[in-house]
Amino acid sequence: MFIDPAVNMKPEPLRYSPYKALIVPRPIGWITTISAAGVVNLAPFSFFNGITDDPPCVMYCPNGTHPDGGPKDSLRNVEETGEFVFNLCNWDLREKMNETAAHMDRGVDEMAEAGLEAVPSKLVKPPRVAASPAAFECKYVQTVDLPESRNGKPSHVVIGEVIGIHIDDSVIVDGIVDIGLLQPVARLGYMDYAVVNEGFTMMRPD
Ligand SMILES: Cc1cc2nc3c(=O)[nH]c(=O)nc-3n(C[C@H](O)[C@H](O)[C@H](O)COP(=O)(O)O)c2cc1C
Repeated sequence: MFIDPAVNMKPEPLRYSPYKALIVPRPIGWITTISAAGVVNLAPFSFFNGITDDPPCVMYCPNGTHPDGGPKDSLRNVEETGEFVFNLCNWDLREKMNETAAHMDRGVDEMAEAGLEAVPSKLVKPPRVAASPAAFECKYVQTVDLPESRNGKPSHVVIGEVIGIHIDDSVIVDGIVDIGLLQPVARLGYMDYAVVNEGFTMMRPD
């Protein structure tokens, strides 16, 4: 079948848009930001990825709006205070991560609300999720505005430079990060997720 997204994202026999089910698995950027008033926000973004490694940069996409009609907190905060933290969500943290997707008032500390312990970052103000096995401290670089959705909602790419990397020593074995110990959770299509607990090795041709 062929789909023209501008016409209909779910022609027969599709029940839902297949778009996100075809970009899989997507890593989850579990992003901490802090407002100018000092309120911590934590939210998951599956439109998230590393985009270059020297200097290391990552991006996440706060799309749509906050229920109050303005930008999502993860966009407003990073543009106000210029910093964010990527926390890696592993299998044990999956339900807490999901809780932090709830839309809350701007004045609510979403990390505390989810019962997650916060640990101060070394170089940036937004704290890290203490239980996360890895975290990147990031400096905001820029926002790229994407075309509006068909119902007039904004979409954005937030780019940040990674200025500090935390790794729990317990997931490092023989000098490499052990995927079976890290157990990152990734997003699939629909309401589905995957957990990565094994990999395979393939050498490049040159
Ligand atoms: C696994 C998962 C992935 C998500 N990915 C995105 C995303 O890429 N972009 C987005 O705008 N919202 C995404 N959401 C929804 C946001 O987490 C949610 O809107 C959140 O409240 C962000 O708003 P805030 O920045 O105002 O807290 C995702 C939710 C879940 C559970």
